[in-house]
Parts: sequence; C-alpha cells; structure tokens
Amino acid sequence: MELKADGISRIFFRNGKNTNFFHAVKKTDFNLESGKITVIIGKSGSGKTTFINMLAGLLCPTEGKVLLDGQDLYEMDDAKRSRLRNVSFGIIPQGHTGLSSLTVLENVLSPVCMYESGKSKKEKALDLLKFLGIEELQEVYSDELSGGEQRRMSIARALIGNPQIIIADEPTGDLDDESTIKVLDLLKKYAINGAAVLIVTHDDIAVKYADYLYKMDNGNLAVSS
Ligand SMILES: Nc1ncnc2c1ncn2[C@@H]1O[C@H](COP(=O)(O)OP(=O)(O)OP(=O)(O)O)[C@@H](O)[C@H]1O
Ligand SMILES: [Mg+2]
Repeated sequence: MELKADGISRIFFRNGKNTNFFHAVKKTDFNLESGKITVIIGKSGSGKTTFINMLAGLLCPTEGKVLLDGQDLYEMDDAKRSRLRNVSFGIIPQGHTGLSSLTVLENVLSPVCMYESGKSKKEKALDLLKFLGIEELQEVYSDELSGGEQRRMSIARALIGNPQIIIADEPTGDLDDESTIKVLDLLKKYAINGAAVLIVTHDDIAVKYADYLYKMDNGNLAVSS
C-alpha cells in the first residue's frame, strides 16, 4: 500500500500577537514506504501529532491531499474513510484512549469486532497481549491499568487487524527500556512483513530502529541526519 501526502498543511485558529491563526504544519510532501520504519522526532509543539493525524485520516489538512493507493482520503465520505482506516491502518494515538467500559481483551478486539466477529481473532489478541507482557490483565477494565499497561493495550489494539500501515504517536512514551525494546521489535516484525511503520518519538532507542529519520521543526518536516 502506498501512503502519500501531497502538499499538506494545517492551520489552527488561535489568537496570537498579530494574528488569529497558527500554522501548525507547513506545506509538506511525504511518502511512507512499505517494509520500512520511518521515525519523526522534534520538539514538543512542533507539529508531529498534527502531521501524522492528517496522514492517518483523522484530521483534514487545510490544503493538499493524503493519497492511499492514489485515493484521496478526504474526498471519501466519513463511512468509507472510517472503514478504510479500520482495515488498513493500525493507529497508536498519543495519550490514553482505551474504552473504560471494556476489558483489555475487549478493547484489543474492538477494531475487528466493528465489521466482523472478533472470535477468530481472540487467539491473536492473546498472543499479542502475551508478547507485550499483559496477558494476565485480559479481563481487567482498561481504567484500572497503569499508563504503561494502557499503552501496551493500545499497541495490541492497533496491531490486531494486521494493518498495512501503522502510525504510532510516542508508542513507548510510558515504557521502561525492556518493554520499549519489545514494542519496537514487534513493530519491526510488522515492517519486515511488509507494513509501512511511522513512529513519532522522543525516545533514543526508537530512533535506532529508523530506516528513515525526519525532524519536525516549527511545522517544517525535513530529513534528519
Ligand atoms: N486543535 C487544535 N487547535 C489549536 N491549536 C492546536 C490544536 N492541535 C494542536 N494545536 C497546536 O499546534 C501545535 C502543534 O501541536 P502538535 O500536537 O502537533 O505538537 P507535537 O509536536 O505533537 O507535540 P508533543 O511532542 O508535545 O506531542 C501546538 O502548538 C498546539 O498547541
Ligand atoms: Mg504530539
């Protein structure tokens, strides 16, 4: 699958000194390559989450297009875009986004239950939870988890559907080094199997996994050496 950004930018309305808008991401072209890990680093507030949310079909760019295999994500209606995102994308959002009324296992299975029975995926969900070291928490409600446990649950949830495109916003933010390496090894495995993996991080360990490294600086994305 090919994910491409064609001249995307994003303005937010926000009162400043002389203006009432703010250019969070300046005009950017970008290609996400299958089978590789692409990492974006950059200071807090530089525009990383804004940029990857546009790529993930979650935030409409102010200008430009996001093309998945040539199809403009934002020309589709909501239902089609949601379905495509559910099938093709594994998204690990920044922050904690588990549904508190569901158990860990139910949270992990929730993306596949949306359009098909999750039963066939239960084994895979348990394998992912085991690999991530939280198998024993499968029946626990997500709001009873620690930050790092919630993070690992979100990672399992993002990977359950075997996505071709994985977009991870600080996936190792709450994790110790051992768990960080586990998560990055897992993402690497998906890349080796052909997925395009995009990681936003402040983590030096994650940077070592990058096939391609970019830096976001004040809304400008550039290749980093
Ligand atoms: N919905 C919004 N409305 C107004 N401003 C926003 C909105 N979302 C983000 N911003 C602003 O855009 C800028 C970039 O935000 P963004 O979340 O993309 O940064 P980031 O690089 O991901 O930072 P961090 O490393 O802290 O997560 C910030 O200054 C933020 O305040
Ligand atoms: Mg962010």
